[in-house]
Amino acid sequence: MTLETTYLGLTLAHPIIAGASPLSATLDGIRRLEDAGAAAIVTATLYEEELVAQEEALEAVAVVGAESHPEVTSYLPPLRGYRNPRAAHVETVRRAAESVSVPLIASLNASTQEGWTRMAAELEAAGVAALELNLHRVPTDPAETSTHIEQQLLETVREVCASVTVPVAVKLGPHFTAPVHLAHALAEAGAEGLVLFNRFYEPDIDLETTTFRPTLESSTREDIRLPLMWMALLAGKVPLSLGASGGVEEAAEVAKYLLAGADAVLTVSALLRHGPGHLTHLVGGLTEWLEGHGAASVAEIRGRMSAHRLAHRELLLRAQPTRTLLLECPCQISRKASPECKPSSAQRVRHLAG
Ligand SMILES: Cc1cc2nc3c(=O)[nH]c(=O)nc-3n(C[C@H](O)[C@H](O)[C@H](O)COP(=O)(O)O)c2cc1C
Repeated sequence: MTLETTYLGLTLAHPIIAGASPLSATLDGIRRLEDAGAAAIVTATLYEEELVAQEEALEAVAVVGAESHPEVTSYLPPLRGYRNPRAAHVETVRRAAESVSVPLIASLNASTQEGWTRMAAELEAAGVAALELNLHRVPTDPAETSTHIEQQLLETVREVCASVTVPVAVKLGPHFTAPVHLAHALAEAGAEGLVLFNRFYEPDIDLETTTFRPTLESSTREDIRLPLMWMALLAGKVPLSLGASGGVEEAAEVAKYLLAGADAVLTVSALLRHGPGHLTHLVGGLTEWLEGHGAASVAEIRGRMSAHRLAHRELLLRAQPTRTLLLECPCQISRKASPECKPSSAQRVRHLAG
């Protein structure tokens, strides 16, 4: 049995990667993920905006101190041990890349083109095996078109890919109009991989304080469906390594993503819930599932259920349940729920409607 897979041109012992999260923000955290059996590790994102804010705050403290009295420089010690936050993060990444034997993938998010290429170059120099561009921004300008947004995104990818030699993966959110076209354009811009999908803050209103609260809830296994559908639609259709991200709880979700065509499966919420040790459980579960289904390798099942290999791919494209789908359910025909039948909510509605 071999679980080996290739992702971004990197050979991985198995397809399960620890995705970007606070678990991979520190050297200890990254080491723990390796010890627990991650095939590769994506670092927590280095956010340019956050770094700029931290640098400005530190500078403000230094300036206020220095200007408080003309003689202050003579008795105020310099900010000893102070290191620019970006340099500190890059140093953590450098030490992690040196100390782990699995590929370390650095995640970054910049707010300027210059920031993207500078941070990418610094992380590459720190010794990472690949980069993951966390391309997230909330477009609010009514004059900005989706074409312009995508062009900017592609320009970022083109510039980063031209400035580094390590492979570059692009991690996107699910809200794009033409994901297949965009995936092709990303490959043309130089990206080697695509990660579907990122999970962002969805602020909620606190009714007591009537303020917005940022919330980033961990996922559940039901959250697999949207990335699973797009994985199946893209696999074999785009010249990109595909990383699946979202809703992995058990090995069953890993197997589903591989069947849909993922080259690697990234997990975060399950590791936050159960601890890094859950990785061993996932790898063991995947091995058992493959054995139970007579497969000797991950390669044997990968993409078996991708759209281009399915005889009937309508189910992947349908927007709403149709009459045919409803009638496929045995309990719809007999109008009596059989024990094996687990009707969907739409089918339950028809039951009730009689
Ligand atoms: C608490 C938390 C922090 C995260 N931090 C990052 C991050 O720094 N960069 C990033 O690209 N994604 C980040 N993510 C998104 C995850 O990497 C992942 O794409 C998403 O949670 C879906 O996977 P999951 O269902 O296994 O959690 C974070 C997710 C969570 C829950």
